[in-house]
Amino acid sequence: MKKLIPLLFFAVHLMALELISPIEDDLNVDLNKALLGKKLFMDPQLSHDNTISCASCHHLDKGGDDNRQFSVGVNNKMGNINSPTVFNSKYNFVQFWDGRAKDLEEQVLVPLHNPDEMNSNIQEVVEKLKKSQEYKNLFQKVYNDTIKEEYVIDAIVEFEKALITPNSKFDRYLKGEVNILSHVEKEGFELFKSYGCISCHNGVNIGGNLFQRVGIVKQIKYENKYLGRYNVTKDEEDKYFYKVPTLRNIELTAPYLHSGEIKTLREAVTFMMEYQIGVTPNAAEVNHIMAFLRTLTGNRPKIMEID
Ligand code: HEC
Ligand code: HEC
Repeated sequence: MKKLIPLLFFAVHLMALELISPIEDDLNVDLNKALLGKKLFMDPQLSHDNTISCASCHHLDKGGDDNRQFSVGVNNKMGNINSPTVFNSKYNFVQFWDGRAKDLEEQVLVPLHNPDEMNSNIQEVVEKLKKSQEYKNLFQKVYNDTIKEEYVIDAIVEFEKALITPNSKFDRYLKGEVNILSHVEKEGFELFKSYGCISCHNGVNIGGNLFQRVGIVKQIKYENKYLGRYNVTKDEEDKYFYKVPTLRNIELTAPYLHSGEIKTLREAVTFMMEYQIGVTPNAAEVNHIMAFLRTLTGNRPKIMEID
C-alpha cells in the first residue's frame, strides 16, 4: 500500500483540475421555504428550555461553526466533538464526522433530540410553534397546511441548501480568471496537488465526499477516544476514519479536527503534512499552502441578506 501511495498521488495530480469544481452562483432553492427555515434555524424555541437555537452552535455571521473546541448546549452542557460548518453542507456525501446521518433531512432531528444539545423533541417543537399566529400564517403560506413535523424539517433543510458560499477567489480561478491568484497562492495549489492533499480533499466541497483515516502514514500517538466511522459500522478497520472535512472557508472555522484540539490553520496544515502525507513540513511550504487555503473563502450566503 505504501508504495502505491505516490503513484496514486501522481495520477490524482493529473486529474487535479477536474477534481475540484466551483460552487454554483444561483441559490436553486424554494425561497419561501428557505426563509421559513432560516427563522426556524435561528429560533431558540427549538430547544426544550428555549435557550439554544441551531445558530447557537452554527454562527451564520462567521464560518457556520462556533469557533469553540466543543459546542455548548442547553444548561451549559459541553459536547465532546467539534462543530463543523453548516455552510455548503448540502455538498457532503453524508452528514456528521462519522457519517451517521445519510442526508440533511436525517441530520436535523439529531441535535434537536440530543439531551446535551437542544434536549427537545419534534412534537414538542410543533406544539410550541402552533401557539404563534405568525408561524401558523407562514406554514399556511408555504405549505398550504397546518404546522407539521415534516414541514419543520423540510424548511430547515431548504434553508441549509441555501447556505452556500460561492465566488471565492479560487472558484473564480477555476472559472477562468487565471490571473486572479497570486504567485504564492498558485504555488500553494501546486503543493496541494503534488503532496496529494487533493486525493482526500476534493470535489465541490474540497472535502466531504469520503471517509479517511487520520494518521494514515504516521500513527497518532495520543489515545483517541472518539472512534469515528467505527461507531456506525463496528468494523475494526473503520477505527479513526472520519468524513474528510470541507476546506471551504477554512480560515474562518478554527479550531480544527473533530477533536477541536488544533488551534490554528498553520498547525492544522503542519499536522496534515506530517500525519497524512508523511513529510517534514517546512515553513515556506506551509505558508504557501495556507495562502492557497485562504483563497477558498467565499461570499457570505446570499440568503442571509434576504428577509
Ligand atoms: C449544541 C450545539 C449544536 C446545536 C444546537 C446544533 N448543532 Fe449542528 N452540529 C453540532 C456538532 C457538535 C456537530 C458534529 C456532531 C458529529 O459529527 O457527531 C454538528 C453537525 C451538524 C451538521 C453536519 C455537518 C457536517 O459536515 O457533517 C449539520 C448539517 C448541522 N449540525 C445542522 C444543525 C441544525 C439544522 C441544527 C438545529 C436543528 C443544529 N445543527 C444544532 C453542534 C450543534
Ligand atoms: C488521507 C486523506 C487526507 C489527506 C492526504 C489530507 N487530509 Fe486533511 N484531513 C483529512 C481528514 C480525515 C481530516 C479530519 C481529521 C480529524 O478530524 O481528526 C482532515 C482535516 C484537515 C484540516 C482541518 C479541517 C477542519 O475543519 O478541522 C485541514 C486544514 C486539512 N485537513 C488540510 C490538509 C492539507 C493542506 C493536506 C495536504 C498537506 C491534507 N489535508 C491532506 C484527510 C486528509
